Amino acid sequence: MKASIVFSCILFLGIILQGSADPVKDKLALLDFVNSLPHSRYLNWTEDSPMCNHWSGVTCSEDESHIIAVRLPGVGFHGPIPPNTISRLSDLQILSLRSNAISGSFPSDFANLKNLSYLYLQFNNFSGPLPDFSVWKNLTIVNLSNNGFNGSIPPSLSNLTHLAALNFANNSLSGEIPDLRLPHLQMINFSNNKLNGYIPESLQRFPHSVFAGNNISFQNLPSPISPSIAPASQPLPRSKSRKLNGAVLMGVIVAACLLGLAGFAFLIIICCSRRKHEHGFSGKLQKDKMSPEKEISRSEEAKNRMSFFEGCNYAFDLEDLLRASAEVLGKGTFGISYKAILEDATTVVVKRLRDVGVGKRDFEQQMEIVGNIKHENVVELKAYYYSKDERLMVYEYYSQGSVSALLHGNRGEGRVPLDWDTRMKIAIGAARGIARIHLENNGKLVHGNIKSSNIFLNSQNYGCVSDLGLASVMSALAPPISRAAGYRAPEVTDTRKAGQPSDVFSFGVVLLELLTGKSPVYSINGDEMVHLVRWVHSVVREEWTAEVFDMELMRYPDIEEELVEMLQIAMSCVVRVPDQRPKMPYVLKMIENVRLGESDSRPSNRNKSLVARSEPSS
Ligand SMILES: *[C@@H]1O[C@H](CO)[C@@H](O)[C@H](O)[C@H]1NC(C)=O
Ligand SMILES: *[C@@H]1O[C@H](CO)[C@@H](O)[C@H](O)[C@H]1NC(C)=O
Ligand SMILES: *[C@@H]1O[C@H](CO)[C@@H](O)[C@H](O)[C@H]1NC(C)=O
Ligand SMILES: *[C@@H]1O[C@H](CO)[C@@H](O)[C@H](O)[C@H]1NC(C)=O
Ligand SMILES: *[C@@H]1O[C@H](CO)[C@@H](O)[C@H](O)[C@H]1NC(C)=O
Ligand SMILES: *[C@@H]1O[C@H](CO)[C@@H](O)[C@H](O)[C@H]1NC(C)=O
Ligand SMILES: *[C@@H]1O[C@H](CO)[C@@H](O)[C@H](O)[C@H]1NC(C)=O
Ligand SMILES: *[C@@H]1O[C@H](CO)[C@@H](O)[C@H](O)[C@H]1NC(C)=O
Ligand SMILES: *[C@@H]1O[C@H](CO)[C@@H](O)[C@H](O)[C@H]1NC(C)=O
Ligand SMILES: *[C@@H]1O[C@H](CO)[C@@H](O)[C@H](O)[C@H]1NC(C)=O
Repeated sequence: MKASIVFSCILFLGIILQGSADPVKDKLALLDFVNSLPHSRYLNWTEDSPMCNHWSGVTCSEDESHIIAVRLPGVGFHGPIPPNTISRLSDLQILSLRSNAISGSFPSDFANLKNLSYLYLQFNNFSGPLPDFSVWKNLTIVNLSNNGFNGSIPPSLSNLTHLAALNFANNSLSGEIPDLRLPHLQMINFSNNKLNGYIPESLQRFPHSVFAGNNISFQNLPSPISPSIAPASQPLPRSKSRKLNGAVLMGVIVAACLLGLAGFAFLIIICCSRRKHEHGFSGKLQKDKMSPEKEISRSEEAKNRMSFFEGCNYAFDLEDLLRASAEVLGKGTFGISYKAILEDATTVVVKRLRDVGVGKRDFEQQMEIVGNIKHENVVELKAYYYSKDERLMVYEYYSQGSVSALLHGNRGEGRVPLDWDTRMKIAIGAARGIARIHLENNGKLVHGNIKSSNIFLNSQNYGCVSDLGLASVMSALAPPISRAAGYRAPEVTDTRKAGQPSDVFSFGVVLLELLTGKSPVYSINGDEMVHLVRWVHSVVREEWTAEVFDMELMRYPDIEEELVEMLQIAMSCVVRVPDQRPKMPYVLKMIENVRLGESDSRPSNRNKSLVARSEPSS
C-alpha cells in the first residue's frame, strides 16, 4: 500500500518534471554571471542540466517560469559583480551573496530587480557609495554589513515602507543619519562607521549599541528608563548563558531552507506526506546542500532530526534572519516563544521548550499525534526539533495576538474594546478546536493547557487553540505555578495527568474571562488574590448577576440573553466534580445554539432568570 503510494508519487513527479521547462532567459543570465565571476568552490551549474531544483542555490517560482531566489553564501566569489548578469533576473526576490570576497561598487543595474525583498551582501569587499534605495519598493531586510561602503546613508531609505531590518555595521559611512520614519523597522545596526551628528528622533528607540563606533552624540536621547521607548524587538539571546545553540538553530534553519530550495523534495512531502519519508528525504537534503560553510556541516546531524509536517513550504536561508528578526513574544508555561520572520516574509512562532519530561520516542509519538491535527481552529504545528539539549516547536503565527492580550492588555485609555460578536466567535472557534482535539488519539488526547493566552484569532476572528498536547510530555509543574494559573481544574494535582474534563474546566474559565473581562486570578488592593471562578460563584449566588459582566459589554444592545446563556454554559463547565462537566462536543453545541437563537425571537428565553445555576443543564 505504502509502496504503491510512493511509486505513484514518483510517477507523478516524473510527469511534472518532464512537463516543466526552465526559464531559459534566467538560466543564461546566471550562466553569464558564474562564468565571468571567479570563485573557489565548485558550482554544479551546467548548461545541459535543468536549473529549477537542480542547480544548487537557485530557487524558481512555483510554476518554474522564473527565478525568485539566489543564495550563494561562501562560494568564494571574488572580483566585482559582472554587469548585466544578476540584474537580468527581473523577478528576483531574495539575493544572498554573503560571505564572499566580492569587490567593486554596488552594482547600479540591481535597480532592475524591482521585486527584490531580501538582500544579503554582508561580509564582502564592496566599496563606494550606497545605492538609491527608492527603486526597491518591497525591500524588507537589507544586510550590507562588513563591507567597505562609504559616503552617506541615503535618505531614500525612508521610502521603503516594508523595511524591517537594516544592517550597515562595519563600513565607512559618513555624514549624518537621516530621519527614517518607518513603522515596520525592527532592527538596525549602524555601528562602526564614521557617522556624526545626532540620532534622529525616529531611531531613538533603538539601543545605543547600534550606533557605537561612530562620532555620534547621545545627548539628545531621552532617559533610557522610559519603557515606552524600549525597542519592540530584540534578537534571540545568542550569547547569554541559556542561548539557543547556534549550530542547532542553524541546522533547523538550514534544513528548512534546503527544504524550500528543493521544490522537488517539497513535492514529495506534499504528495507522499508525513514524516515517514524524512529519512529518504534527508539523504536528498544532504545532496542538495550547497557550498557548505563550516557551521552548516556541523549541523548536518541536527538537520536530519528536524521533523516537518505536511504542507511546510518554508524557503528560508537564514542564519541572518532569526538573528535579525526574531522577537520575543512571551514566556509561557512551557518555554519562551519567539516570532521569526522568514526570508519569504512568512512569519512563524518558534517555541523553545524548557523541561521536557519524556524521552525522544514518547515526545515524537505525541508530536505525531499533535501535528496530525489539521483544523481551522487549531494552531498548526509546522515542525518540531528534538535533541539532547534543545527542543523547538514551529507554529503558525497569528498577528492579532492572544485572546488574553486582547482582553486584558491595555485596559484604560486608548483601549480598543473587544466587542461581543468577536468574543462569541472566539468562544465558538476555541470550542470547535478543543472538540476536535478531544477526538484525536482514539478520543483520548488532552489539550492540557487551555488558557486565554493560548487562544488566537484567525482571519475571521474565530478562536484558534495552540500549545496542545505539551502538558503530558513536560515535567510536572511546581504547585505555585499551577495554582497561580487559575485555569486548573481542582482535581488536577499532576499537570501531566490532566484529563478531558479538566480541559472543559479550563475552557469554562476562558468563557468566564470573556464574559467578565477579568483575569482568572487577580488581586484586589494589591495582595488579596481572587479566583475568578469563586468570585463568579459568589456573585451569582447573591443574585447580582448583572454585575458579573464586563462593563465594556454594556454598550451593546440586546445581548443580555446571550450573556446569561453563555454564563450558564461557563458555569456548567467549571463545576467541581469532573464527571458532572459536559463533554466538549456538547459544550460546543450549546454555544452554537446561543448564536442560532439570535435571529429568531425565542419567547421562552425572555423571562429567563438572570441567576445562573451551576449544574450542567443536560
Ligand atoms: C513581482 O512579484 C509579483 C508577485 O509577487 C508579480 O506579480 C510581479 O509580476 C513581480 N514584478 C516584477 C517586476 O517582477
Ligand atoms: C511587492 O510585493 C507584492 C506582493 O507582496 C507584489 O504584488 C508587488 O508586485 C511587489 N511590488 C513590486 C514593485 O514588485
Ligand atoms: C578588499 O579590497 C581592498 C582594495 O579595495 C584590498 O586591499 C583588500 O585586500 C580586499 N580585501 C579582501 C579580503 O579581498
Ligand atoms: C569612497 O571611497 C573611494 C575609494 O574607494 C574614494 O575615491 C571616495 O572619495 C570615497 N568617498 C567618500 C565620500 O569618502
Ligand atoms: C521617494 O520616492 C519618490 C518617487 O517614488 C521620490 O520622488 C522621492 O524623492 C523619494 N524620497 C526620497 C527621500 O528619496
Ligand atoms: C563588526 O566588526 C567587529 C570586529 O570585526 C565584530 O566584532 C562585530 O561583530 C561586527 N559587527 C557586525 C554587526 O557584524
Ligand atoms: C550592532 O553591532 C555591534 C557591533 O558592530 C554590536 O556590538 C551590537 O550588539 C549590535 N547591535 C544590535 C542590536 O545588533
Ligand atoms: C565629532 O563630532 C563633533 C561634532 O559633533 C566634532 O566637533 C568633532 O571634531 C568630531 N570628532 C571627530 C574625531 O571627527
Ligand atoms: C547539483 O547539486 C545538488 C546538490 O548540491 C543536486 O541536488 C543536483 O542534482 C546537482 N545538479 C546537477 C546537475 O548535478
Ligand atoms: C547581517 O549580518 C551580520 C553579520 O553576519 C549579522 O550579525 C546580522 O544579524 C545580519 N543582520 C541582518 C539584518 O540580517
